[in-house]
Amino acid sequence: EADLYTLYKGVYVPTCVHPPQSLQYYEEFTFRPNDILIVTYPKSGTTWMQEIVPLIMSGGDPASVETLPNWDRVPWLEEQRACILNLEERPSPRMFATHFHNNMMPPSFFKVKPKVIYVMRNPKDVFTSSFHYYGMTSFLVKPGPQSEFLCKFLDGQVMFGSWFDHVKGWLNAENKDHILYISYEELIMDLKDSVARISQFLEKSLDAEVIDKIADRSVFKNMKQNNMSNYSAVPREFMDQTKSEFLRKGIAGDWKNLLTASEAKHFDAVYKDKMKNVKYKFVWD
Ligand code: PPS
Repeated sequence: EADLYTLYKGVYVPTCVHPPQSLQYYEEFTFRPNDILIVTYPKSGTTWMQEIVPLIMSGGDPASVETLPNWDRVPWLEEQRACILNLEERPSPRMFATHFHNNMMPPSFFKVKPKVIYVMRNPKDVFTSSFHYYGMTSFLVKPGPQSEFLCKFLDGQVMFGSWFDHVKGWLNAENKDHILYISYEELIMDLKDSVARISQFLEKSLDAEVIDKIADRSVFKNMKQNNMSNYSAVPREFMDQTKSEFLRKGIAGDWKNLLTASEAKHFDAVYKDKMKNVKYKFVWD
C-alpha cells in the first residue's frame, strides 16, 4: 500500500494519478459560482455523468462527447491532468468531477458554492464494480481474495476511503441548496426522467425530444461504443480491459452474482450500523 498510495486528508489516493503537486493545485483552486461539479465515490456513476452533463449543457449537441475524452471534457480536479488543462481559461459554465469527501474540499468550494451533482450507488454494487476494477488496473493495490477486499472496503482501506463516510459527509453538507442528490439506480430506472431532473437543476430547459436524444446517447450500450468515454484510449499496462471492461455491466444488483449469502449478510449488518443515523431514503433500502 505504501508504494502505490498517498494518505491525503485521511484517505488513500493512488499516487501516480494524484501526485502531491496536483493535490496542491486543487487545494488552491478557485471555483466560480456557475461551475458544475460531479461528485462521486468511485464506481458510482462518474463516467455516466461525464456524458450526460455535457450533453445537457450543449443542448444535445454531441460534438464534445464525440471529440473529447471524458477526462478532458469533465476533468477530475484532483487528477494530475488538471494542472495542465488551463482550467482557469475555460469559459463558464465549467464542468468538473471529483471523488473528494465533503470535508476534503478546498476553501474556495465552501465560499463560492458551485453547483454539485452528487451521485450515489448501492454500496454492494460499488463494491462489486470496484472488485473488478481493482483487478484490472496497475495503479491500485490488487484486491486480493474477495473476502479480504470486502473487509478493506467496509473498513475504508481502499482508494478515497470509506463509502459510508463519503455518502454521510455529502448528505450532511452544511449548505444543500446547491447540491442535487441522485442515485445510479434512479438513472437505471428512468434515464429520461433523470436527465430532465438534472437539466432542471442546471437551469437548462430542454425540449422533450432533446431529452430523449440525450438519454439515448448515454444509455449503456451506446456509451460503450463511444471511444471518448469507454477508456479504450488508456494503455493496457495502466488498465487491462481484457481482464474486465471499464464499462463492465452497467446494471443495478450485480452484487447478487458476486457476494456469498454470508458476505451479503455481513455487509447489511455493517451498513445498518454505520448508516443508523442517516435519514435519507435510498432507492436500494
Ligand atoms: S470511476 O472509476 O469512479 O470513474 O467509475 P464510475 O464511472 O464512477 O463507475 C463505473 C461504473 O459505472 C457504470 N456505467 C454505466 N452504467 C450504466 N449506464 C451507463 N451509461 C454507464 N456508464 C458507466 C460502469 O459500467 C461501472 O459499473 P459496473 O457495475 O462495473 O458495470
